[in-house]
Amino acid sequence: MADVDVRRFTHKDLPNIRQALIDVHADAYADAMDDDFNQRFPWFVDHWGGNPDFDCVIAYDGDEAVGFAYGAAANPYREWWREHLEPAPEKARTFSYSELAVRTKWRKTGLAEQLSRALLNGRDEDLAVLLVDTEHPRVQAMYEAWGFRKVGERQPFPDSPVYAVMLTELPLPGT
Ligand SMILES: CC(C)(COP(=O)(O)OP(=O)(O)OC[C@H]1O[C@@H](n2cnc3c(N)ncnc32)[C@H](O)[C@@H]1OP(=O)(O)O)[C@@H](O)C(=O)NCCC(=O)NCCS
Repeated sequence: MADVDVRRFTHKDLPNIRQALIDVHADAYADAMDDDFNQRFPWFVDHWGGNPDFDCVIAYDGDEAVGFAYGAAANPYREWWREHLEPAPEKARTFSYSELAVRTKWRKTGLAEQLSRALLNGRDEDLAVLLVDTEHPRVQAMYEAWGFRKVGERQPFPDSPVYAVMLTELPLPGT
């Protein structure tokens, strides 16, 4: 495991962590920040952070935030997987895993997995769902290695990428 301090935050903490999330995201997506969609990240932070159920873990190396993972409970019957699974799973309480980012110099340290397990295994939902750009097959493979499987595709906004919808039971297998 990476030698970092992983701390958990909620909706109430948003004003204190907002800039750290934006800074880590800008570093993690540095090669893709000319993309209008990526530039809208502060809007997404406020949108997800504004949810009373917002749940976020941040890894710190000393005072520096080096990676984060966040999400919130999905709205029943509006889960990202809903249109792709017939019949729906019997146990269907779902956590929407919205965002994961790790600073470039912390890549390949296992931090992405450490953050994901800390976030998801601290939840009591039955399922976790996430969206991953279909043009990033290596990222999709990473999630598959943790137990997620692709159940469909969706494009939530006209200017957003086309995403693979990936689903897993919780707790994550192998935990
Ligand atoms: C995704 C992320 C957290 C994984 O970190 P990590 O566990 O240290 O693993 P890596 O950075 O090696 O990434 C895993 C694989 O995905 C690829 N990858 C990561 N981010 C990518 C991106 N934005 N676009 C395309 N491929 C990407 C890597 O090249 C790597 O491929 P490889 O195994 O063939 O070398 C980190 O790469 C990151 O922050 N990326 C940018 C943000 C992002 O894409 N988040 C995921 C949103 S679903």
